[in-house]
Amino acid sequence: MHHFTYKNKMLYCENVPVQDVADQVGTPFYLYSTATLKRHFQAFETGFDGMDHLTCFAVKACSNIAILNIFGQMGGGADIVSGGELFRAMKAGIDPRKIIYSGVGKTRAEMREALYAGILMFNVESPQELDRLQEVAAELGTRAQVAFRINPDVDPKTHAYISTGLAENKFGVPVDEALQEYLRARDMENIEIVGVSCHIGSQLTQIAPFVEALRKVKGFIANLEQEGIGVKYLDLGGGVGIIYNDEEPPHPHDYAAAIRDELTGMECTLILEPGRVITGNAGILVTEVQYTKVNTGGEKDKRFVIIDAAMNDLTRPSLYGAYHEIIPVRESDETRHQVDIVGPICETGDFMARDRMMPETRQGDLLAIMSSGAYGFSMSSNYNSRPRAAEVLVSDECFQIIRYREEYETLLHGELLSVLD
Ligand code: LLP
Repeated sequence: MHHFTYKNKMLYCENVPVQDVADQVGTPFYLYSTATLKRHFQAFETGFDGMDHLTCFAVKACSNIAILNIFGQMGGGADIVSGGELFRAMKAGIDPRKIIYSGVGKTRAEMREALYAGILMFNVESPQELDRLQEVAAELGTRAQVAFRINPDVDPKTHAYISTGLAENKFGVPVDEALQEYLRARDMENIEIVGVSCHIGSQLTQIAPFVEALRKVKGFIANLEQEGIGVKYLDLGGGVGIIYNDEEPPHPHDYAAAIRDELTGMECTLILEPGRVITGNAGILVTEVQYTKVNTGGEKDKRFVIIDAAMNDLTRPSLYGAYHEIIPVRESDETRHQVDIVGPICETGDFMARDRMMPETRQGDLLAIMSSGAYGFSMSSNYNSRPRAAEVLVSDECFQIIRYREEYETLLHGELLSVLD
């Protein structure tokens, strides 16, 4: 359920006409609904009511500080994967004691920053990372709280690029080797074992892989206990899918219920790292049609709708072949045609939709690319020297820019003409 609906044939975000925002901000821009963000966070949270748990929003999904701040105010923490994300989470006012640091490639500098900040837990992904963390924590005269990220070798049945819990993926430590690492960590002076973590992938549409992974983690925790190692936190990662097209993902409450059943009798605090399920359907990308054209001469005539948003703004269609619903901002019942909706970037891979049935679309029309609130702006780039889009937040009948559209000067930030011969 989201708050992007037609009223009198015009698309609204809550009580703001999308057209009004376009008139004032220009296109393209990302538009987020506060009510939807809060509702999704709340819906996720309430599934775990009565259970000791902490929801750490996966910053990578949508990293604007205004949005992180909303979740922070609702009691949420953050799942980070870089020093930059730590910086953002702190700027957004997230309590460092609610920050979890995941990722296979943490640098010394990043470890130092996170230790200074006093984060809740590092999810360690390799033996070498453990050694480095011990060293860095010793240098700072502190102790790092750690969990190992277990790779449970479970197939999440999602796109290959976003599967992370298979043995062949780069993530985590295999279950068989993890015990040995916990034993090593136990003897390290500047390491404190506090948890076990696991994240098997993203955009999962079935509950079974989560349960399978959780069972393996539970089995592993039992092994640890036999060695006298207890853990306070069980981090199950993120991954709950959303509806882009015709997917049938589990309702967050059903997901929560399945986890609750599995965890009966366990004493740990459950940590969750949802990203997409919270923000995915809470944001859209609004773009203006620049041109339409028909290319003839091939097997069949090909209609193109050329918009002012491109793969640098929303890369998911190009990168994963992902489907995003695209609707006109002015509702239309005109004849539908099959079109490719493409951006201005000089690559054939720069498309938002291919062979999509769309009502007659004309120059100047506004289109809304739906479900763009997760891995949309956060994956955007300046490719083709395109300033990144503005981000706008709506609450009821008000809206506010939460990130200005970049200017040409921003494109050159930090760049210098050479003084070399
Ligand atoms: N925790 C960890 C350790 C992760 O690696 C991820 C996502 C999450 C949590 C959040 O997963 P979510 O709840 O959002 O599924 N760019 C891709 C998705 C990449 C996901 C990477 N990791 C896409 O646009 O589909």
